[in-house]
Amino acid sequence: MSTSENTPQGLPATEFDELLAAAREIAERAYTPYSRFRVGAAALTEDGRLVRGCNVENAGYGVTLCAECGLISELIAGGGGRLSRFVCVGGDERKDRDERHVVMPCGRCRQLLSEHAAPDLVLLTPGGPRGMDAVLPQAFGPADLRS
Ligand code: THU
Repeated sequence: MSTSENTPQGLPATEFDELLAAAREIAERAYTPYSRFRVGAAALTEDGRLVRGCNVENAGYGVTLCAECGLISELIAGGGGRLSRFVCVGGDERKDRDERHVVMPCGRCRQLLSEHAAPDLVLLTPGGPRGMDAVLPQAFGPADLRS
């Protein structure tokens, strides 16, 4: 996204340029000897911090950490807060970093993001910018534990 048109969320699309660059950069550090698919995730917090993560695979395939796990870990370790913008990119590790395209967070990671989302979080998806509710409708959350 590199135009200055407004997105459906009323955001200039260029809002995501820096996050896309950060996601592509961190994807270079992914540990992906099994899938060869590198993922980089980057987000801004409400107080303006940049948090990132990359996927870390494991010989026990199911133990693999998605890029979003690293991002949320950095969020909490850095003082917590809520996410206001998010993007993740992915692509074969033999590809150039700039060829990594925007990918949807997997279902488990949408749940992970939902817990730490600002009410107005905007995620850049392959279909354009979307709110959390659009990518995880009727999410299970902390309030459900009290009902
Ligand atoms: N992956 C992520 O890092 N995040 C996602 O949301 C989807 C999948 C990683 C896990 C695995 O290392 C590779 O992509 C292929 O599934």
